[in-house]
Amino acid sequence: MSQRLRPPAPGRRAFLGLAAAGAAMTLGAAGFSRLAGAATGRVLASTAPLPPAPFAVPLPIPPTARPARTEDGADVYELEQREGQARILPGLTTTVWGYDGIFPGPTITARSGRRTKVRVHNNLTVPTVTHLHGGITPPDSDGYPTDLLLPTRCAPGQSRPHAGDAHGGQTTVAYRTYDYPVPQQAATLWYHDHRMDHSAPQVWRGLAGFFLITDDEEDRLPLPRGDRDIPLMLCDRSFNEDGSFRYPDHAHDTFPDGVLGDVQLVNGAPWPLLEVSGCRYRLRLLNGSNARRYQLRLDVEGGGRGRFVHIGSDGGLLPAPQHLDAIDLAPGERFDVIVDFADHPVGSRITLRNTAGQGPMRDVMRFDVVRAARDSTRVPARLSNRFEALTPTEGMPVRTFDFRRTSSGDDQQMWTINGKPFHPDTVLACPRLGSVERWRFSSDFHHPVHVHLAQFQVIARGGHPADAMDAGWKDTVDVRPYEVVEALVRFTGYKGRYMLHCHNLEHEDMAMMGTFQVT
Ligand code: C2O
Ligand code: CU
Repeated sequence: MSQRLRPPAPGRRAFLGLAAAGAAMTLGAAGFSRLAGAATGRVLASTAPLPPAPFAVPLPIPPTARPARTEDGADVYELEQREGQARILPGLTTTVWGYDGIFPGPTITARSGRRTKVRVHNNLTVPTVTHLHGGITPPDSDGYPTDLLLPTRCAPGQSRPHAGDAHGGQTTVAYRTYDYPVPQQAATLWYHDHRMDHSAPQVWRGLAGFFLITDDEEDRLPLPRGDRDIPLMLCDRSFNEDGSFRYPDHAHDTFPDGVLGDVQLVNGAPWPLLEVSGCRYRLRLLNGSNARRYQLRLDVEGGGRGRFVHIGSDGGLLPAPQHLDAIDLAPGERFDVIVDFADHPVGSRITLRNTAGQGPMRDVMRFDVVRAARDSTRVPARLSNRFEALTPTEGMPVRTFDFRRTSSGDDQQMWTINGKPFHPDTVLACPRLGSVERWRFSSDFHHPVHVHLAQFQVIARGGHPADAMDAGWKDTVDVRPYEVVEALVRFTGYKGRYMLHCHNLEHEDMAMMGTFQVT
């Protein structure tokens, strides 16, 4: 699989020092506190008229994909990346780049231990890469950013399809089959585009969907299921006058900190409404935004708060549930929670609020309790017996990954890990398969750090024990400004080439990525 790769063009990755200096000053002025509500990017204002009022459209639920066939005991899915038309803003049509032409893409439901194959056809006009975020996946199927699936169609005005970026060695294939053995426990995962230098605009245009894993242990729990088990993809977008997605042409010059939209979407609908029965629901919260962070809480109209019961992290069920009044959700992270709407009388209106947002972006969606209901579900005191808490040991390999902006000379700056921008030929670490390592992530800004393949447990944050919100197996952790997060990372599954990176997608496209090789 190895290809000789030419170094990426530096122009795409560097950004002007001036803008960076401005951002650094903002951080400095706010001090070294947790900067809970600090901006993590800049708002790109829509030029389209925005919906006059929130909570006017019903929450859509992405359709569940059906396997096209079963092959040697594997469920095989066919997904076509293509343009589709969506009605997102009132009276306007938005062209999305979607898996099967929809945004979010179809939800894939996989079974732990049962092989799932996803054959992706690229009928867009740009190369793509698909990554299963949170998956324990063989390296060839992990969506390394240069493992392109080239398009078979020509862009308007071109006489031949896109031949790939300057990485060499690609041939056009009609499809690419991603092989997911799914060796892991029940969890909420997602898939999205991961093309080098272009993930941010391609995800912004719609290339993302849910991938849910179920297993026997979870099946035995009396948790809400069916239409009371609801995936919620939270993301922000901006729109042009004609309804098309608005994204800057040169984000690295103008939006080096990240692009924030001014329309809050949940499952692709702006500020939607869900009518619920007075009973428990399982909500699978995913932050699918490029750069926006959420601090979520439930505000009851007329006063009072709703409660979250946290049952699962990125990697699956927690050993035991915990109550949370608020949830910090950084790009790429997932929180599985139970909300009991029986706590509120019929007629209650409960707004999911983002206290880190401003103006209309403080609202996410609303739940209206419209009927009473019988409820036979429970949240048991014990959720998963598979969870094993890791502890640091003497002699465990320790590595530091420092996420920060670095000058590349000439008043140019770059987002770097340990002072270096991503280069496909550079390997930052070679952990051994089966081992546990102690990784320290440090940062100068908010950087949601995501590790492919290996899940981890956060043991310390800013010199203190981990927060309640850091509980469980994680694959993404928000490293806050001037903070050090320590995690115990377990390398299971496969040997090969994987990566870690910042999941602020603009930072990722500006080369805040690194490769590790499991040996
Ligand atoms: Cu969700 Cu490497 O990404
Ligand atoms: Cu970052």
